[in-house]
Amino acid sequence: MIRLAQANDAKTILELIEFHADSEQMLFRTLDDIRNNIQNFLVYEDAGVAIGTCALSACGSGLVEVRSLAVHPGHYRKGVGTALVEHCIERATQIEFEKIFVLTYALPLFAKLGFEIIDKAALPQKIWKDCQVCRKQDHCDETAMIRPLARRAELQSSPGLALNSY
Ligand SMILES: CC(C)(COP(=O)(O)OP(=O)(O)OC[C@H]1O[C@@H](n2cnc3c(N)ncnc32)[C@H](O)[C@@H]1OP(=O)(O)O)[C@@H](O)C(=O)NCCC(=O)NCCS
Repeated sequence: MIRLAQANDAKTILELIEFHADSEQMLFRTLDDIRNNIQNFLVYEDAGVAIGTCALSACGSGLVEVRSLAVHPGHYRKGVGTALVEHCIERATQIEFEKIFVLTYALPLFAKLGFEIIDKAALPQKIWKDCQVCRKQDHCDETAMIRPLARRAELQSSPGLALNSY
């Protein structure tokens, strides 16, 4: 089950991120940062345990970023990451963002969901503020990928494509 994160999920979200950030697979986030942005996070829950997370972060100009996608290593390759990104796409569509992007090493996952590689320089400058805390800030090897979002009105007129409600 995927749900919006609650305040008391912050420590579990930190653990999921920390595990991967320690091996430089993703950007580290502090507990304060997670707590201050908890409303942006989704949690994938299995038998009452949070086994995956990701966040949506608005960047202005109709753009929204998928951030902090992390799945517990005991649950890799079971579709958890895909389900979280699919929810992000649905949620971003509901909010009527125009495009969703990510900076990632997990190219195949995002490519399967319709994201395409773009030049990082095409992304708004404001996203680079996060890089100031990254150990790889001078040699960033993440790939930028972006996907257009359907207009909500178009989806509602397509009976096969239901939007989740929160
Ligand atoms: C990347 C990550 C989120 C994938 O989570 P997941 O739940 O295992 O992903 P899924 O099961 O939905 O996999 C979807 C597809 O992604 C690709 N993929 C996932 N993990 C992969 C890996 N280790 N190597 C190659 N391809 C991989 C595959 O194409 C996979 O489809 P398949 O299983 O049918 O072949 C997870 O490995 C993780 O937390 N990694 C560390 C943090 C990270 O890289 N986050 C992304 C930052 S944006």
